[in-house]
Amino acid sequence: MTEPNEAQGLVASLRAYLEELQETGVDGLPLAGEASPPAAEPLQKPAPAPAAPVVPGRMASEAAGGKGETLDELRLELAACSRCKLGETRTNLVFGVGNPHARLVFVGEAPGRDEDLQGEPFVGEAGQLLTKIIEAMQFKRNEVYICNVLKCRPPNNRNPQEDEIEQCQPFLLRQLKAIGPEVIVCLGTFAAQTLLETKDPISKMRGRFHDYHGIPLMPTFHPAYLLRNAGMKREVWSDMQQVMKLLGVEVHKK
Ligand code: URA
Repeated sequence: MTEPNEAQGLVASLRAYLEELQETGVDGLPLAGEASPPAAEPLQKPAPAPAAPVVPGRMASEAAGGKGETLDELRLELAACSRCKLGETRTNLVFGVGNPHARLVFVGEAPGRDEDLQGEPFVGEAGQLLTKIIEAMQFKRNEVYICNVLKCRPPNNRNPQEDEIEQCQPFLLRQLKAIGPEVIVCLGTFAAQTLLETKDPISKMRGRFHDYHGIPLMPTFHPAYLLRNAGMKREVWSDMQQVMKLLGVEVHKK
């Protein structure tokens, strides 16, 4: 019989494996005995469409006009949120942290255990790596803004569910409008797929700018994924160098 500790270990390894699959764009596995679906891709792939030209900071002018709502107003509106079931299980709502007029915003998936306890996004191990990335980009953590698609922790860090995204997403859009950043970086599959309304894998989306309501958006791998796949740091650094260039920050040779 499987011992309880062994079973927990198996569950943890399986979870890490599934998260890795998801990070590379696989979001489902066939049931045993289910026939594999026919190959959907033509043998000869059409050349990828060039990324739409994006002009930095179109939303920023709205924020600069001073007519829009502020982050504090939005935070108040969300304070006792019970729009979805995560309101019943969270310890703290994790609204976001950083400069309310940041030029650069990082968007992650959802708070984890540490974030739920502290009420601040990206404070666990993945958060510490994110801070290193931010500093390598010549910014201080408090100069940028950091938030998540979901503001409350899904129990046991399970994947966000449709109804939760549906309730929370409009607040993210309003949050980004209030900040008016020049660039958004999406951390991981979930944030990029949600903001860009696509099911494309992160491996296909990263490495080039996309357009999000007039703001250039760069998808890249999630820091939690980097903790398990250090070999992908090179890709993330290359994505962040593009972001630095767009923001006019000098890229030092490593
Ligand atoms: N992972 C996320 O996506 N967000 C956090 O805040 C922490 C970990």
